Amino acid sequence: MKTFIFLTILLQIFVLQQVRTNECELTSNDDIQLTANEFIQSRQICHILNLPTTNKRQISITGRLVDYTTRCQKSISNANVEIIRIHLNHRSVCSNIYHSNSDGYFNLTNLIIDFNEEIFLRLTAPSYKTIYKKIHFPLSYDQSVEMILNWKIVLSKDIKQSQSQDDQRMKSIVDTLLSEMTLDEKIGQLNLEGVGFNADGPVITNEQRERIRRGEIGAVLGIFTPQAVRQLQELAINSSRLKVPFIFGFDVIHGHKTIFPIPLALSATWNMTLIEQSARIAAREATADALNWVFSPMVDIAHDPRWGRILEGAGEDPYLGSQVAAAMVRGYQGSNISDVDTVMACFKHFGLYGAAEAGRDYNTVDMSPLRMYEFYLPPYRAAVEAGAGSVMTSFNEINGVPSTANQWLLTDLLRNQWNFTGFVVTDATAMYELIPHGLGNLQEVSARSLNAGVDLDMGSQGFLSTLNQSVQQGKVTEQTIEQACRRVLEAKYKLGLLDDPFHYVNESRAHTDIFTKENRLAARDFARRSFVLLKNDKQILPLARSNLTITLVGPLADDRRNLLGAWSGAGDWTQAVSVLDGINQLIGNNIQVLHVKGANLLEDPDMLKLLNAYGGDIILDNRTATQMIDEALQAAQKSDVIVAVVGETQGMTGEAASRADIGLPVCQQLLLQALFNTNKPVVIVLMNGRPMTLTWEDQHATAILETWFAGTETGNAIAEVLFGYYNPAGKLTATFPRSVGQIPLYYNHKNTGRPFNSSDFLNRYKSRYLDISNDPLYPFGYGLSYTSFSFGPLNADKTQLHGDSDRLTIRFVLGNNGAYDGEEVVQLYIGDPVASVTRAVRELKNFQKVFLQARERQEISFIITTDDLKFFDSNLNYIWEEGLFNIYIGPDSVNTQSVQINWFKL
Ligand code: BGC
Repeated sequence: MKTFIFLTILLQIFVLQQVRTNECELTSNDDIQLTANEFIQSRQICHILNLPTTNKRQISITGRLVDYTTRCQKSISNANVEIIRIHLNHRSVCSNIYHSNSDGYFNLTNLIIDFNEEIFLRLTAPSYKTIYKKIHFPLSYDQSVEMILNWKIVLSKDIKQSQSQDDQRMKSIVDTLLSEMTLDEKIGQLNLEGVGFNADGPVITNEQRERIRRGEIGAVLGIFTPQAVRQLQELAINSSRLKVPFIFGFDVIHGHKTIFPIPLALSATWNMTLIEQSARIAAREATADALNWVFSPMVDIAHDPRWGRILEGAGEDPYLGSQVAAAMVRGYQGSNISDVDTVMACFKHFGLYGAAEAGRDYNTVDMSPLRMYEFYLPPYRAAVEAGAGSVMTSFNEINGVPSTANQWLLTDLLRNQWNFTGFVVTDATAMYELIPHGLGNLQEVSARSLNAGVDLDMGSQGFLSTLNQSVQQGKVTEQTIEQACRRVLEAKYKLGLLDDPFHYVNESRAHTDIFTKENRLAARDFARRSFVLLKNDKQILPLARSNLTITLVGPLADDRRNLLGAWSGAGDWTQAVSVLDGINQLIGNNIQVLHVKGANLLEDPDMLKLLNAYGGDIILDNRTATQMIDEALQAAQKSDVIVAVVGETQGMTGEAASRADIGLPVCQQLLLQALFNTNKPVVIVLMNGRPMTLTWEDQHATAILETWFAGTETGNAIAEVLFGYYNPAGKLTATFPRSVGQIPLYYNHKNTGRPFNSSDFLNRYKSRYLDISNDPLYPFGYGLSYTSFSFGPLNADKTQLHGDSDRLTIRFVLGNNGAYDGEEVVQLYIGDPVASVTRAVRELKNFQKVFLQARERQEISFIITTDDLKFFDSNLNYIWEEGLFNIYIGPDSVNTQSVQINWFKL
């Protein structure tokens, strides 16, 4: 029997009585063995399943992060504390990431360590120097004794000193530039234009060429490759008076050339290290293609799967969404935004874009301030706190004023309350769209946008064509224009472009950094980790690796066109791996695969016309639906199991892709119906960009594997999961409703005055439907595994707590009771049943992704502080109130155990 030993390393911060700055720097620097770049590069795939079973340890590190340079007064909140484990044999790296709370406390547990690994602690926080600390296990280490190491670690602020010197240099360079600029040249910097390109270079109109010469374009969108970017940058430098370089932006959303799973899928990994790495690789590929600015992450919370853009975000939860937002920003911007392989992030769409009424894209948003602060704003704020260099406005209105002209949003909240120092760009033509919103003519709306806080106009040319006149007429001041121009120039400085306009242009990197074997391996790993097993009756999955005949059927079984999803700007779908190819490559020699198409993707003539008008490439089969189904049935008769790869087309999700019916297209349902009638086991492999209504499919299929749009390596990843080379561990981050009529449906809803209780079915006057249950089909946080996990009884160290600094520890034993190694996402929710304002029934406050080998058990612990109890009161103060709290822990948002505690102010 394996012995588990708890090693507690207490990471202590020395609280020195008389603090001098130079005494507050990191000690034990000699332990630092990795540089940031080395670390990121080596972190490819974690071969966690191959770890030997001996020498396992559990490690627990608690600590507090304090900024000493402020005389030890300031706690460092929201820092990332990460344990990095490097397997020496195969140089693969795994890591677990945690976040300090607002008092700077963090707590890491549940790490299984092999003694052959090197173990480091990495601490990162915006504006601080990233530090690495090697964790040493003394040779004489007695495994039965708890050990405390007194480390003196602080996040060092010395970077700030050099930063302030750099700030001065930036100010002086930008000041000089501004002093030389005419008003029109300043306005020109506020104009972002789309530019095409081909193999010969940029494709620009004569008008654009003239504008470049006059200094009337500040940034461009849509052009990449070192050759094209070099040519356009040369034009900007050589033809304009002041030679101000362009910023080059693009929609790099989930990978640049190597396409990763769609963001909703990435969020289903609940793995911030992985998500950060996906952005890191995307940044490296994008910069190798001479880009330096990406329109990502999209951090809009969404409760409505009819909205096609739900695929671009991290789902419905503000806590998880905030972590994803910060991880993406970290990944894109790295520790130094001017490095040649980092890009400036642009989080979007600020704000509340995901709350469009009825899930119809671009529709009106109307929401109470409380809801806004509690559920929708946190991820934007997290992106700001992670240091994002820019933000994009949204198309919708907020409290009656479209966000692109909303001073409260862009200045009072973003800059004055959240201290955002980057620049604000409009969404594409959003300024122009203020006209149909009803805010006035182009001159009027441009002046309003500038005054509200917009710095860069994407695609409306409202600033360019009207601001000069507005200055003359006193609608805007030259000072406001200069301020916006300063922000754009500062971004150029931070990116290193004012020192070297060709900083990101390197013709050789495209060959070494783009679409590499390592990047594709990472894409495969991310893909399989993003899949969610929704149903698995009779343990039909994983499938046998020999003596098996499968019918592989469905319009997406041999498809490549749709695998990259709707937002893969530079991705090349012809490079994607189909499910058929993936299965054949992995196991084709050992099993028999009968492949048939079975159905068209879609037959609705209007939708076909619409999607194909925008590059849908949906080609109808020459055969009738009946002929295709008959062929599928013939194959099915000869096989042991049917694997049906069905779903949406890429064009059915994404921007301008709202659907009122979020089920499978009818022709695919007819195929499934025929397959179900065979009484052979049917495994549905689903591809889609949103939660769908699958109530009927759930009743009849033997298994359902949600694979989203998984990117370049889709087929390989699906094959690995179907045949058990990887045990799925994804968890939903957006609720799957039973019916469209239930939408919006989300786990963190309010209780109402008449909550429905299903055990009281005949009680009619409750908040309920007559014709359907209130419950979702698959709740937030849900996802199965090939193994089964058990959650032992919860053990709270206290039930009465007092004051701000008290801490509650909850422990329990997690067991892997099955035959497969696997990962469980242990989720912690808190409910606050009595408060001065109504609260959600429960809210996610923490989670841990834990790997356990078959039949392994491990104690898990969570530390809860008053930070986890906080909410916005009716005056929008972020506070906690004393009283009763329910702490829920479980594998999803519904199947939880709970403990009740009282937490008092004194
Ligand atoms: C989208 C943005 C995108 C922009 C530039 C807009 O239509 O809403 O998300 O970044 O286009 O392509």
